[in-house]
Amino acid sequence: MRRKFASAVLMLVVLAVASPALQAQTKTTGAQGHPWYQNAVFYEIYPRSFMDSNGDGVGDLNGIASKLDYLHDLGVDAIWIAPCFPSPQVDFGYDVSDYENIDPMYGTLADFDRLQKLGEEHGIRIILDLVVNHTSDQHPWFIDSRSSRTSEKRDWYIWRDGKGKNPPNNWLSTFGGSAWQWDRKTNQYYYHFFYAQQPDLNWRNPAVVDAMYGTTAWWYQRGVAGFRLDAVDTLYEDPNLKDNPVLPGKNAFGDPNLQNIYNDKLPEVHTALKGLRAVADKYNAVLIGETWTDNVAELKEYYGAGHDELQMPMDLMLTELTFSAPVLREHIKAVEASGEWPAYVISNHDIVRAWNRYGDGRHNDAIAKDMAAMYLTLRGTPIMYYGEEIGMQNNDPKRREDVKDPIGRTGWPKEKGRDGERTPMQWSADPHAGFTTGTPWNAIPGTYRAYNVADELKDPDSILNWYKGLLALRHTNPALLEGRYVALDENNPNVLSYLRKSNGGAAIIVINLSAAPQKVNFDLSPQGLRAGSAKTLMTTQAPLKENSSVEQLALEPFAVYIAEVRK
Ligand code: NOJ
Repeated sequence: MRRKFASAVLMLVVLAVASPALQAQTKTTGAQGHPWYQNAVFYEIYPRSFMDSNGDGVGDLNGIASKLDYLHDLGVDAIWIAPCFPSPQVDFGYDVSDYENIDPMYGTLADFDRLQKLGEEHGIRIILDLVVNHTSDQHPWFIDSRSSRTSEKRDWYIWRDGKGKNPPNNWLSTFGGSAWQWDRKTNQYYYHFFYAQQPDLNWRNPAVVDAMYGTTAWWYQRGVAGFRLDAVDTLYEDPNLKDNPVLPGKNAFGDPNLQNIYNDKLPEVHTALKGLRAVADKYNAVLIGETWTDNVAELKEYYGAGHDELQMPMDLMLTELTFSAPVLREHIKAVEASGEWPAYVISNHDIVRAWNRYGDGRHNDAIAKDMAAMYLTLRGTPIMYYGEEIGMQNNDPKRREDVKDPIGRTGWPKEKGRDGERTPMQWSADPHAGFTTGTPWNAIPGTYRAYNVADELKDPDSILNWYKGLLALRHTNPALLEGRYVALDENNPNVLSYLRKSNGGAAIIVINLSAAPQKVNFDLSPQGLRAGSAKTLMTTQAPLKENSSVEQLALEPFAVYIAEVRK
């Protein structure tokens, strides 16, 4: 009895102390019963490049804090901060040497707590980036592991004897060369799917699993609303270390192409994700996955057969599709058929910026608006990448000696690395785009003079104001929040059209993905709607602002038309 009472009192104390943070995680459902993350817009921040508060040329947590008003006004509900933990920065933070602290380059734990609190005040949740597959070779776990064959943490990583003078098998690092690094001290190889300075953790060791689960709980208790889980595909390796099949041709690093069937997407990954999810569920937290899948069936597996794995495995396939109505329509159809809640992404810190990738070299601004219109009005949760909303462009290094990302040096010139998509956020036309008063760590493209927040805010037709409008709409329009997806005009080779239809109303989205004017006609009677009942919500084509029917629409090249339609 006494013990029961004591634990009840303790619970109350814990809740009182932790209440602001817990509140952030538990204000969970929208009016229609969606978990919070389904009505949210996520925004990825690469912390080196978002905002520098102390003039050292590198972005930091206080810099992010200073831009929360901007993010709130933009319509962002959660920020995913790429790794900001202590790290030797070989892979710019994806080589973590302490999971429960902040790298001094970015600030302190107190700065983090302040950011978290300010985030709450702005209605913005914090998502951290957990590097679960590997640590830095400077992490105390690995330092212990490599110290001797009998060290306590030897089995926290994957150590094997070689085959004669050769590594244990033919597996390759995705960053070039063998995935095995010889260690002279203990005369064995260790395994690293990424850089040699990023040894893979041994997820078959329960102590590793416990440590990683514990780390997530530690951050949840600090108020973090979830994690983006890095490189989950490669958590496990075949214990028998079978050689991967060799495919024809060579990659950018000059290595043979392999089919990674023995070290990628092993079934055991799902067990680990279920465990991480069980911890997340205690805190009502969300798990986003870096899930590189070949098809929607594979993506579906990451949700878990019992919906007990990732709530938001990222649809990274979208980043690999061409800008074409039939191609995009086909993909959306497959995603919709899977019945899951999509997590759409069009750019991130590892791939060429969306503005360049989908752009045709002449109409990139218009195409950026088309892509935004599409993925921000589809059913699902969008994850934006900082700067996408102002049309930021890649700025790849021109010379090998300027490259900062190591893969750009080993893979030059075929692989120039990822510096180009990680340039500082362009806040204004001031020196260094208003990002820093010092020397920016990465080169800013000259285009910042036209593509920057301050100037775009003043221009009603800017990409930024287009994004703002779309985000405001998707937060308030019941059809966009709730509606199911209904494809329209499915054989049209140039125009992508669909309805979002809910009990609360319907919206039609029409996007001309071609450089030519297009005519489209809609009869919405099969959907129980009147084509003549249109009320424009947003459009890039000024004369359509007063339009009241979608029976016949004449679209300018790349035009977007979004309207409410009624019964
Ligand atoms: C995926 C991350 O997005 C990338 O930036 C990093 O280099 C690798 N995982 C290794 O952690």
